[in-house]
Amino acid sequence: MKTAYLCLAFMALASRQMEVFAMYEMKYTPPNYPSENKTLVGFLIRSFDYSHHVTVCGKACLNDGKCKSFNYKEETTTCELNKASHLDSESALEDSDGYIYLMRDAFFLPAEALGACASDPCGNGTCQETCDGKFLCVCEYGVWTGDICETPVVHGGWGDWGLWEGCSVSCGTGVHYRFRQCNNPTPSEYGGRACKHENNVMNVDAEKCNTTPCPQWAMWEPWSICQPGHTSCGLGTRSRMRSCMYDGTPDVDPGCTGSTTETGVPCMSRDCDVPLKLTGSSTYGEGILEIYDNIRDEWGTICDTDFSSHDANIACRQMGFSGSAVGTPTITPISDTSYPILLSNVECTGSEVTLTTCTHNGWREVTGCSHDDDVALKCAVDARWGKWSPWSLCSLTCGAGVQTRTRVCDPRSGGTCIGVADDTLECEVDTCNPEI
Ligand SMILES: *[C@@H]1O[C@H](CO)[C@@H](O)[C@H](O)[C@H]1NC(C)=O
Ligand SMILES: *[C@@H]1O[C@H](CO)[C@@H](O)[C@H](O)[C@H]1NC(C)=O
Repeated sequence: MKTAYLCLAFMALASRQMEVFAMYEMKYTPPNYPSENKTLVGFLIRSFDYSHHVTVCGKACLNDGKCKSFNYKEETTTCELNKASHLDSESALEDSDGYIYLMRDAFFLPAEALGACASDPCGNGTCQETCDGKFLCVCEYGVWTGDICETPVVHGGWGDWGLWEGCSVSCGTGVHYRFRQCNNPTPSEYGGRACKHENNVMNVDAEKCNTTPCPQWAMWEPWSICQPGHTSCGLGTRSRMRSCMYDGTPDVDPGCTGSTTETGVPCMSRDCDVPLKLTGSSTYGEGILEIYDNIRDEWGTICDTDFSSHDANIACRQMGFSGSAVGTPTITPISDTSYPILLSNVECTGSEVTLTTCTHNGWREVTGCSHDDDVALKCAVDARWGKWSPWSLCSLTCGAGVQTRTRVCDPRSGGTCIGVADDTLECEVDTCNPEI
């Protein structure tokens, strides 16, 4: 390092200079301007207090390339070197007792005696003579650099951002980065400031990327109608489907593992023995045939399309009659159009036990029917006995007698009941013993 050759102590320098000074002839031409009791203020380079004679101060000025004038005070042996003279700034020359002000020009010393710094080789830096007679420039930190402080110090500036690099994810939201360098300009090696952050961002910038949604299942579509197996009621199966959204591959993409369909899932269709009833007539066994939807908890009618005598027999038997009677009752159709028609195209083979097990178009799959087309039935009504009355008391209070009971033919049936209306039973009461 250059600093190793520096003579750091001024004292040492001064004593050596005295020696050198002795070897050369120094000329001192007194000035032809007022200099006694004057001092130049405001251009100080440096000062020192061990200048035993004005010529020592003069030589220091000659040795310093920047020195243009100096102030000397004999009383304190103070030497002040100035970088300007009163020719540069007349007003800077002020009165001050005990001082003497002199310009560099008042002195002369051969060049070789002045040392390496006398020619002011450092420009904007400070020259320091080294022990081997050479010089070293000390530059103002952060302002000048280079061997002779000739190069302005450059502070760093950011270059342009590079392109955004790849996103961290292929779907959903990820992050990507871009980079820049402190190279516009690159800071000087000595004294150049590095680039500063801008809004907390240095050389890396991050941003959200890729807002393409990841594949995922769509909602299941609604279940299909519960399809009963062999009949139109009872246990059945149903199915539903879904799709993988956003170009996903089902059972491959993580968001879409599983099946696209669910089929054959057990379900309960309408009960096979949903109740039937006859309405709209006061005559027993007659009326508009209604059927109960146990899923919607609602009664409704049946359209007479394809309704055959087979169907009528099954419906009547299901309601407890022996079958259907010939003819159709005349009943005022239901006027409420919002009242549901539940079945149409009911076709029974004749062996079915309930109407629901016959084929039909499906519950509520009714087209082209109005309540004018509702099935109305007249079921065959057998004359029916009413309940037996309780047995009467025994006809005798002592010995063997009879008990009787009676029944009446149901007046709603309109026919003749087969069988007897009276019934008797022998009885014996054991109250003949006089001892009792
Ligand atoms: C400088 O000041 C000293 C002390 O006040 C005085 O004795 C001397 O005469 C002055 N010299 C000049 C040239 O005015
Ligand atoms: C010294 O600095 C000034 C500005 O401060 C500049 O104009 C001048 O050129 C510099 N001198 C040298 C020798 O670099």
